[in-house]
Amino acid sequence: MKNQKIGIIGCGDYLRWQSQDLKNSKNVKVKSLFDPDKARSAKFAKDLGGKSVGSSDEILNDKEISIVCVFVPPWIRKDILVKAANAGKHIITTKPLAPSIAECRAMVDAVKKNNVKCGVFYRRTGNSGIETYKRIFSSGKVGKLALYKQDWIHHYPEWNNWATDPEKNGGPFMDAMIHNMNISKYLMGRKPVSCSYFSENFAHPGLKCSDTDFMKLDFEKNGAAHLFITWAADLAVHSRDGNDREHIDIVYMITDKGWRITEAWEKEGFTITASRSGKNMKWIAKDFKDTTYDRFADSVLKNKPLPSDIPDVTEASEDIKLIRDAEKSKKI
Ligand SMILES: NC(=O)c1ccc[n+]([C@@H]2O[C@H](COP(=O)([O-])OP(=O)(O)OC[C@H]3O[C@@H](n4cnc5c(N)ncnc54)[C@H](O)[C@@H]3O)[C@@H](O)[C@H]2O)c1
Repeated sequence: MKNQKIGIIGCGDYLRWQSQDLKNSKNVKVKSLFDPDKARSAKFAKDLGGKSVGSSDEILNDKEISIVCVFVPPWIRKDILVKAANAGKHIITTKPLAPSIAECRAMVDAVKKNNVKCGVFYRRTGNSGIETYKRIFSSGKVGKLALYKQDWIHHYPEWNNWATDPEKNGGPFMDAMIHNMNISKYLMGRKPVSCSYFSENFAHPGLKCSDTDFMKLDFEKNGAAHLFITWAADLAVHSRDGNDREHIDIVYMITDKGWRITEAWEKEGFTITASRSGKNMKWIAKDFKDTTYDRFADSVLKNKPLPSDIPDVTEASEDIKLIRDAEKSKKI
């Protein structure tokens, strides 16, 4: 039986991404949805079940609703999330937590004060490939992760008017590469100690943000992540209604024992390969048994820590501080 009721605040493109996982969930049921654009909440109410309501307060004041999804843009998130925590709701939200460190602090404080759970969904969330990497590095079979290297190339977001505004969100790193920075921290499993950051605009002087960012993040015990993203190349945009664009992802990792780790979709599924001196080892990622929503709801019901693929609000806040501090120090 679907016994935990969810309210959704913000029914934009991210909810479209989340719809299937919500529908596949066995223990959560969408009760109410709110978006100032009524057509959007009505459309998702039809698709997911539940009712489109006239204000976010209707959701926050509803005693039957235990979990609230805050899927609004980052610059709008703080006030709603603080209100939800003060109303005693457990919260699911997404990256980037907020454009400023002060807003992040306010959210962390409200979550702690009210003793509620707040999970922040990233690319890592519900991603069995990343969990497989984590198990490989924890097993010691290939040594410790030493170098995490990733390039992302895609067009800048065109389906909204806030993602390219540094006051409301940020540039390519805040909007997108934050996913992989978070993954690199998770897989390293040790503290970042220093950071170099470069940001420039090669091809889009009309944008409020840079079109290219690079971060070298150093970790204790001789580890580094090289994280590069560019929106400079005009790769294909398949639709301007939502995130539907050509995307190039080049990623590999190297361990302190000299293993090179790569990933690919093969016929058995998502496959991770470690190679050294011409020898290979392979792992196939196995999907999670339950949806992310069911696993979050279970941690609420049993008052357990969040599953390891769901960063909490403190971790998401640390990510924003890292990027904003790095951006400041790049100015010489
Ligand atoms: N985790 C991921 O992989 C991932 C992927 C895509 C987007 N995101 C994130 O999801 C968030 C939302 O992005 P999006 O692409 O859905 O944006 P969007 O612009 O498509 O949708 C945002 C929605 O929020 C609504 N909204 C605005 N103010 C509101 C308010 N006061 N109350 C309720 N709703 C309000 C808007 O009307 C809009 O429908 C962003 O933080 C974005 O970075 C995460």
